Amino acid sequence: MNTAKTCRGIYRELAHSPGRIDDDSAIMKSVGEALTARGFHVELATADAAFETRCTNIFVMCERGAVLDRLKTAEKDGSIVVNSSEAIRNTYRHRMIELFAQHHVPAPASQIVASDASKPRPAAGVWIKRYDFHATQSCDVIYAASEDGWHEALDRFAKRGIPFIIAQEHVAGDLVKFYGVRSSTEVMANWFEWFYHRDKGMLGHSFEASSLRQAAFAAAAALGLEIFGGDAIIQPDGDPKIVDINAWPSFARYRDRAAQAIADHLTERFQRRPRIVTSRS
Ligand SMILES: Nc1ncnc2c1ncn2[C@@H]1O[C@H](COP(=O)(O)OP(=O)(O)OP(=O)(O)O)[C@@H](O)[C@H]1O
Ligand SMILES: [Mg+2]
Repeated sequence: MNTAKTCRGIYRELAHSPGRIDDDSAIMKSVGEALTARGFHVELATADAAFETRCTNIFVMCERGAVLDRLKTAEKDGSIVVNSSEAIRNTYRHRMIELFAQHHVPAPASQIVASDASKPRPAAGVWIKRYDFHATQSCDVIYAASEDGWHEALDRFAKRGIPFIIAQEHVAGDLVKFYGVRSSTEVMANWFEWFYHRDKGMLGHSFEASSLRQAAFAAAAALGLEIFGGDAIIQPDGDPKIVDINAWPSFARYRDRAAQAIADHLTERFQRRPRIVTSRS
């Protein structure tokens, strides 16, 4: 078999797809089909299944440390892995907030706090998020509007054995979701979509979509992500703040178009094997 034209896709761990198992698996399958149409032999596997690190072209939605370690070994042996294991690890919240600060990504003020700390809440409205993974259950992200709520939330994390949390200031404005594929350092040349979250109220602050695009790609570059999605708040003055960025989301609303953009990007990466640029401060 022509190994240059063979690639392996790895699904997200089920525990990391709360409410999104079908959408997560659908985007993998759509990308697999789009790569097949481009002449690749594609195999899809679960993160738990033993996978051959000899496969030189790997695209992944998985997030757990153990599988990222195996992917890192594959990368050292010359495999192309998209997103890279390092970029996926960088989405762990404590790394993300540090990289955002280091690269001046417009993001809410955030700090790491021990869940058994007795310090007062850092802002009048504060979001409390587990320090490592993105939400795998609803109580992983809690809003505290009062001092009591802050201490109760810390206590809940401590009782679950989660030693640290990210405390993040509340940003008022309109929530938007965005998706992107970072193929080029020329931000406007990249595939990008955004939309308002259907379940959240909207104030309708006007803004330049190009500002949101710049902020989203700056966030992705800070972490080294190529395939990404996230959440931003459009503030009353139109400036966006990036509250969250994830590696390879479900792209549910734009699945077909995203699959084509991702497959084009992977074809380029697997055939030409260029290094992807990460921001340097
Ligand atoms: N700093 C903030 N300011 C305002 N709203 C926030 C802030 N942080 C989080 N939120 C709200 O909480 C939601 C979930 O937060 P976040 O995106 O960080 O967690 P998540 O685990 O990725 O959850 P989801 O999968 O819903 O995006 C956001 O979409 C947003 O509506
Ligand atoms: Mg999010």
